Amino acid sequence: MSDLPEHARENQRYWNGMAHEWVAAGERNWAAAAPTWGIWKLPESELQMLPADMSGMDAIELGCGTGYVSSWMARRGATVTGIDLSERQLQTAERLSTEHGVPLTLIHGTAEAVPAADGSFDFAISEYGAAIWCDPHVWIPEAHRLLRPGGTLVFLGNTPWVAVCTPPSGAACEEVLHRPYLGMKRIDWTQVEVDPGGMEFSMPVSAWLRLFRDTGFELVDFLELQAPEGESSTAFSVPAAWARQWPAEHVFKLRKR
Ligand SMILES: C[S@@+](CC[C@H](N)C(=O)[O-])C[C@H]1O[C@@H](n2cnc3c(N)ncnc32)[C@H](O)[C@@H]1O
Repeated sequence: MSDLPEHARENQRYWNGMAHEWVAAGERNWAAAAPTWGIWKLPESELQMLPADMSGMDAIELGCGTGYVSSWMARRGATVTGIDLSERQLQTAERLSTEHGVPLTLIHGTAEAVPAADGSFDFAISEYGAAIWCDPHVWIPEAHRLLRPGGTLVFLGNTPWVAVCTPPSGAACEEVLHRPYLGMKRIDWTQVEVDPGGMEFSMPVSAWLRLFRDTGFELVDFLELQAPEGESSTAFSVPAAWARQWPAEHVFKLRKR
């Protein structure tokens, strides 16, 4: 991985540096009775991210972190590969895989160039992995390459609304437009005052749709997620009151043509 692009080098450093902060959440999610998704922990029954029965399927998680999404797929019968850029995150995934007796194939690498043959998988997924940390114009074609014809790609990440409404300081989302929507792509959080982060990607919805079409994906569903009624927390700089009015997270479900 010596020739990683700038954003991947920065994100690898960032994620290795804070992997210890994700251990407890990883442990909770590995032990959870049923999958929940995103910053508001929305139930699988609502989002339907995973096929109920994945027996006989080859699945890959792109940016698997501590591997809990991979564990949910393996428990549904899939043979699962997880790839992640952070060796520290993978250490947690490896440990939890052993402790829970759920075998996973874990690869240290970038989801922008996965060391697997064309058409190796039936199902690919990312929850805040490649979905936000990889260049869409690289990882979406890469996911397409990895899938068999008719295969599914599902991903969940934060919306361009969040990027537009986050102040330049990196403080919590406001009801104010802070940056242009049209033309946005790479967002550099490395120098912000509040909770500096890595380099993320977010695009206008029209840019996503064009990319899917040009790559050879058919859009099966598009969800804009709302914070649950009665929720009052601020999750990852998104106040629930804000996310009752604007979608902080979206899900794309795609089929390879
Ligand atoms: C928020 S975690 C997502 C995993 C899991 N759903 C979770 O929430 O813990 C983000 C993960 O993306 C990984 N990541 C960032 N850039 C990546 C890349 N280019 N290729 C693969 N993984 C990447 C990070 O190392 C991190 O483990």
